[in-house]
Amino acid sequence: MIDGPIHVPEIDAEVGKGELDYEVYLRTSELLSLQHSTDERCHPDELAFQVVHQVQELWLRLLNQRLVALVDLIDADAPSSVHRTINRCVVILESMCSSMDSLSTLMPADFQIIRRNLGDGSGLQSPGYAALRQAGAVVEEARQACFERAGVSLETVYRTHEPEYLVALCESLLDLDVAYQRWLVAHFYLVRRTIGVHRDVPALDGYPTKALEVRMKRPLFPELWDVRVALTRGWNREGGVAPGAPRSETLESPAPRQARASDTLADAPRDGE
Ligand code: HEM
Repeated sequence: MIDGPIHVPEIDAEVGKGELDYEVYLRTSELLSLQHSTDERCHPDELAFQVVHQVQELWLRLLNQRLVALVDLIDADAPSSVHRTINRCVVILESMCSSMDSLSTLMPADFQIIRRNLGDGSGLQSPGYAALRQAGAVVEEARQACFERAGVSLETVYRTHEPEYLVALCESLLDLDVAYQRWLVAHFYLVRRTIGVHRDVPALDGYPTKALEVRMKRPLFPELWDVRVALTRGWNREGGVAPGAPRSETLESPAPRQARASDTLADAPRDGE
């Protein structure tokens, strides 16, 4: 690593002193002093460990800001903004997954050296994660209030596929939950790869790493998963045709109703209304 400023000929300036607009705006001097220096590092890979965790905290901060905005949009019955905001959250979570995966190149024996320097530090102490779980609960409350305003139950919406904007809201939230749980699963495999998942392997907070197997499946929106179970519980074979038997017009249609051209959010509240 080159210490000290570097002359950049294209702009004829010394980069690295923290004085240029880019550096001042992004506070690069402070940012780059937030990791242990080369002399302080207990292992060369400690830089990767710190950087990835810090970056994850920043992504979590951004995600939480968007989730707070999402609550307001759901409260305001603004479907297209809701959809766009959820999509942005999904993209953040996907970036978090691949950035998390970059730590999978850590070798177990190397991580053992770093681990000695973490005190009782646990992922459960992450401020971004705690805020994310809390934000998820508030989004769920907003979703429920939205259903109350429409006077429909979750199960009815999933049975009838109406009103369309509530179906779209739930399925978007489910996409978000899947992205969130993919991040937890990426973390699980990182842990499994680095320290192992077993009831005899304690995490730094004393809990066995085995506990992660249950916790990584905790969704943000449990009711959106439960409604599927409810639908399948109420399912029977009536109306189906045995494999190989001739099909007739008595065959049940795949959806409760065919999609209509008017499904373009015509019956949905409008953004800004
Ligand atoms: C080599 C890398 C990593 C290892 C070995 C590791 C290990 C662990 C272990 C053993 C646990 C379960 C015990 C506990 O509650 O603390 C845990 C939980 C957690 N870790 Fe990590 N972790 C790593 C990287 C990360 C990263 C990059 C993040 C990003 C923020 C993270 C966030 C979390 C969170 C949020 C939890 C709590 C999840 C829950 O159970 O609800 N971890 N980690």
